[in-house]
Amino acid sequence: MTTIGFIGAGKIGSQLARLAVKNGYDVILSNSRGPGTLSALVKELGPRARAGTPAEAAGGGGIVVVTVPLKAYREVPVEPLAGKIVIDTNNYYPQRDGHIPELDDESTTTAELLQAHLPKSRVVKAFNHIYAAELTTHGAPAGTKNRRALVIAGDDADAKKTVAHLIDQFGFDTVDAGPLAEGWRIQRDTPGYGPRRNAEELRRDLAAAKRNRDR
Ligand SMILES: NC(=O)c1ccc[n+]([C@@H]2O[C@H](COP(=O)([O-])OP(=O)(O)OC[C@H]3O[C@@H](n4cnc5c(N)ncnc54)[C@H](OP(=O)(O)O)[C@@H]3O)[C@@H](O)[C@H]2O)c1
Repeated sequence: MTTIGFIGAGKIGSQLARLAVKNGYDVILSNSRGPGTLSALVKELGPRARAGTPAEAAGGGGIVVVTVPLKAYREVPVEPLAGKIVIDTNNYYPQRDGHIPELDDESTTTAELLQAHLPKSRVVKAFNHIYAAELTTHGAPAGTKNRRALVIAGDDADAKKTVAHLIDQFGFDTVDAGPLAEGWRIQRDTPGYGPRRNAEELRRDLAAAKRNRDR
């Protein structure tokens, strides 16, 4: 898989695209306003990058990153993503996204919502708990002492393996939180959400996380 598609090219999308290009991937970027608005980023990224519509990014990517405000998740194209690994970076902020009752009552999680919208895709939650700027400043080669770790969660073991490899290439260790349903352990306001953590610390944070209803 040498092309990564991006649905969303804002703070996180642009940073992940920089890491992807640096590691030899081609990228197809998309946003809500159209490819013409991405020319500066495409120019910065160079010949490995191009812009397209969300459907083109979804169809052209071997792996596709969905990195949009959560309120837009239903607009993510479904058919072109069938069978593909979809990385979900999204978080829930009601003040931005509006209230989503099944998240408010904790009967589901953000990545499960995207998985339900994309039933034929293999969704892996990743990159949701690191500040965008740190994606290009906190990475380090594999084996570096105290290397920062990032959480993944997902229901497809092969997809998680592929995403863990990508995260390693991007400069981070991986901690597997389990299935998508466990993704709440790294949602907003949990101990691991935001701070720099190595793998051991992050495992401890995941174990200590509490659901909002149990606080
Ligand atoms: N910022 C962080 O440090 C951070 C860290 C971890 C996770 N996250 C999460 O990751 C997601 C993205 O965050 P961000 O900070 O990168 O947001 P952002 O800077 O606001 O960028 C959002 C991107 O999504 C695009 N978009 C919006 N609606 C779309 C649609 N219907 N179809 C296609 N693209 C659409 C926007 O395009 P237009 O500009 O054209 O509207 C923009 O490129 C959010 O869920 C956020 O909570 C953010």
